[in-house]
Amino acid sequence: MKFFVLFGPPGAGKGTQAGAMVERFNLCHLSTGELLRSEIAAGTPLGLQAKALIEAGNLVPDSVVEGMIEDKFQSVKGVKGFLLDGFPRTLAQAEALDAILAKSGDQVTACVSIMIPDALIHERIAHRAHIEGRADDARPEVVENRIKTYHDKTEPLIAFYKKVGKYSEIDGVGTIEQVRERIFSAMDKF
Ligand code: AP5
Ligand code: MG
Repeated sequence: MKFFVLFGPPGAGKGTQAGAMVERFNLCHLSTGELLRSEIAAGTPLGLQAKALIEAGNLVPDSVVEGMIEDKFQSVKGVKGFLLDGFPRTLAQAEALDAILAKSGDQVTACVSIMIPDALIHERIAHRAHIEGRADDARPEVVENRIKTYHDKTEPLIAFYKKVGKYSEIDGVGTIEQVRERIFSAMDKF
């Protein structure tokens, strides 16, 4: 089984590229952001807990997302692996992921990182705000906090995956098709 971490700041294009990636490599796409938004839409206790945090641009507790991911690893069958979009996002989550995978003798295959500059993050999210109406895209101060949270808590994962030779950085500036081709050629190497 392959376990790809799809990494990148808000608006980098993770969700946009995920569909083509899972199709080409027969993976299951797991986006913790999408899973959390479904919980909010369904009004579950977990969703209620996550709502205020997400709408302020803060992370939900590590234990919440770790539990969701482990449940999916156990329940999803018939794929060659998983594409983890937006997870892990803290060093603690990365260590928990390693521990979860170690139980079945598995490990992270690679961290595919889509990189764009902060100015482009604002542009892409402002564009998406009109189309998708995501609550955390609507207010500039929330987008700013998501970017700050990314730099403070998530960016350290770059060094974490570089240290073990699993970090692959893709230039996320360009057309969707150009970025997709760069991602495919990076993934082909793992
Ligand atoms: P999440 O849903 O993961 O949001 P995010 O990381 O902020 O990332 P986005 O979904 O905003 O960006 P994306 O990279 O998917 O961009 P997209 O492809 O849509 O998380 C939301 C929240 O949930 C978090 O803030 C947190 O509260 C919580 N959460 C989630 N995971 C968590 C975790 N592990 N731990 C704790 N909390 C967690 O593209 C953006 C726009 O750009 C689109 O309109 C797209 O059409 C456009 N676009 C994409 N590529 C291109 C291109 N090449 N050219 C032009 N436009 C493009
Ligand atoms: Mg996304």
